[in-house]
Amino acid sequence: MEQQERLESPDTPARSQSRLATEVGFPIEADTSRSLSESILQHHRENGRTYHRYKAGSYFFPNDPSERDRLDFQYEILKYAFSDKNYFAPLKDPRTILDIGTGTGQWAIEMGDEFPNAEVQGTDLSPIQPSSVPQNVHFFVDDASEPDWVLPPDYFDYIHTRVLLGCFADFKAIINRAFHYLKPGGFMESQEIMSTPYCDDGTMPDNWPFKEWMATLDEAAMQADRPLRIASRLKRWYQEAGFVDVQEKVFKMPINPWPRDRHLKFLGRMSEDNWLSGLQALSLAPFSRTLSWSKDEIEVYLVDVRKAILDRNIHAYHKIYVVWGRKPEEGEAVDSSSAASIAAP
Ligand SMILES: C[S@@+](CC[C@H](N)C(=O)[O-])C[C@H]1O[C@@H](n2cnc3c(N)ncnc32)[C@H](O)[C@@H]1O
Repeated sequence: MEQQERLESPDTPARSQSRLATEVGFPIEADTSRSLSESILQHHRENGRTYHRYKAGSYFFPNDPSERDRLDFQYEILKYAFSDKNYFAPLKDPRTILDIGTGTGQWAIEMGDEFPNAEVQGTDLSPIQPSSVPQNVHFFVDDASEPDWVLPPDYFDYIHTRVLLGCFADFKAIINRAFHYLKPGGFMESQEIMSTPYCDDGTMPDNWPFKEWMATLDEAAMQADRPLRIASRLKRWYQEAGFVDVQEKVFKMPINPWPRDRHLKFLGRMSEDNWLSGLQALSLAPFSRTLSWSKDEIEVYLVDVRKAILDRNIHAYHKIYVVWGRKPEEGEAVDSSSAASIAAP
């Protein structure tokens, strides 16, 4: 009985099957739901990796087991960076929670455990969520860039996004849409890595291969209309969408364990592992599809990037931005200058 109430990944439904069938161009047969769920479960193969089948080509990064492991690890890294917090918005007994681009669904699952009275929905282009999840957690194959999320407006108490750089042509439009689907008084929160590497002590040369790799990835992403540098713009986009009490926290994530500080050193160690294990996954589709590099050219190029990541003499780090805001209550007077910025260690 317990087993029946849990959601098995192969049944991850499409939130709107008619929309999905029409737009992807799958044949609409009598048994539409069956043909549809089979189609979205097939993965697209390219350069030895697999990618999402629904809206194929729209997202650059793979969905195969090694990338899923990396996403799970990235979840642990952010949990550590945030000193075990899953969210910063001042949530009080939320009943409806949405995680856009949920990936392997770890965040949604933990939120389901923490808030047993809440219905937690996770959406993604790929049905890569685990097979056994809490009863109050549900995953859907859905494209968040669609203008209609097939839900009533003012529905969610809390909407969350995490590491969605490079997913959307217009992330500001996602924020605006989330505002529409949030209840008055509800919160939205985004947790994003700024792709630009920073250095405060002059040890990062402009020709450092990791910095050059990141610039090349950025160029490919811009050509494909999937910008990476969204994190530092979130606060302004939240304010422009109409959110109030907008807060921003900025965390440092060292690229390898160069810092002396124990917390940052450990974070750097995890970050280094994440970059090394993800480098190929993050490069293949952008560099081949957009810049027309061959797989061999990419592999050769990455040799020096890997060495650069391991170089402890270069004191580089990424910034992680966490931004949250509240949708005003009906009739609430709004002071648009109410945003705050908090620098975290
Ligand atoms: C880097 S992963 C982050 C996953 C998760 N939020 C996390 O922090 O682990 C980005 C996810 O967004 C999903 N995604 C990309 N474009 C999307 C879209 N248009 N609609 C919904 N999900 C999308 C991808 O399939 C992928 O699982």
